[in-house]
Amino acid sequence: MNVFKEKVKTNLRHASTIPALEATDITMRFKVNGISKTVLDRISFAAYRDEFTCIVGESGCGKTTLLNILAGFLPPSAGEVTVMGTAVHRPGPDRCVVFQEDTLFPWLTVRENIAFGLKGVSRESKRHIKEEVDRFLALVGLTDYQNYLPREISSGMKQRVELARVLILEPHIILMDEPFASLDYRTRREMQNLLVSLWQKLPQTILFVTHDVDEAIVLGDKIEIMDINPGRIHEELHIPLERPRNISQNEFGLYRDKLHSFLCD
Ligand SMILES: Nc1ncnc2c1ncn2[C@@H]1O[C@H](COP(=O)(O)OP(=O)(O)O)[C@@H](O)[C@H]1O
Ligand SMILES: [Mg+2]
Repeated sequence: MNVFKEKVKTNLRHASTIPALEATDITMRFKVNGISKTVLDRISFAAYRDEFTCIVGESGCGKTTLLNILAGFLPPSAGEVTVMGTAVHRPGPDRCVVFQEDTLFPWLTVRENIAFGLKGVSRESKRHIKEEVDRFLALVGLTDYQNYLPREISSGMKQRVELARVLILEPHIILMDEPFASLDYRTRREMQNLLVSLWQKLPQTILFVTHDVDEAIVLGDKIEIMDINPGRIHEELHIPLERPRNISQNEFGLYRDKLHSFLCD
């Protein structure tokens, strides 16, 4: 049975008091030329089930480092990451990462790329896998391109494949590191809208890192605003605006001003 289909979006997002993902006092120091530098300083925040959390901060403030720690790729110097209340110390199938860079297998078609991870983890029949791949191809609008190779499709389409191949695995938590940063403005807006509509159809706990203030306000239920040198959580800002959100809306502008004021403090 596919639990995705069983998930119903309700207003009970915070019904559970246990966060899907929690960072507690994460500190990260790197030694460069014998000198220790604190990149992250006691980062604490919680992401609840099916919540869309953005982490925004300028380049170099430690967003990628933080995401790598949350994913389990990098052990922090101090602090703890928990998933559903249990401490995690290494990568696991509960957390999937979508990177900015193209990580598709160049020799596999769009369809084969999307199916790849599922073959390894699913005990389901071949027919079920086929149905799931068909469903996700349709969800990201790539049914007509399923037999193309990555080099034959645009960068926006490649990011759709990246999304589909993570979503199809049904991880508890999706960690995204500036996945749309290399896309042109229009494609980027399209991808943001697609991501929001997919998340509304298939609720997921998403943690999305960006340096783009508008992107964070378009996407997030809440935004963790980071300081730089050292990277700290400056403020948590909730965005109760209806979706889809329009960047030319007055209220949107108010949140943008607020975020800029925090980032410039
Ligand atoms: N392995 C490392 N060794 C030393 N310094 C590092 C390492 N990884 C990241 N840094 C430093 O940590 C800071 C934050 O980097 P990063 O997490 O990539 O920031 P962001 O993703 O916000 O741009 C930068 O100053 C970077 O040079
Ligand atoms: Mg980064």
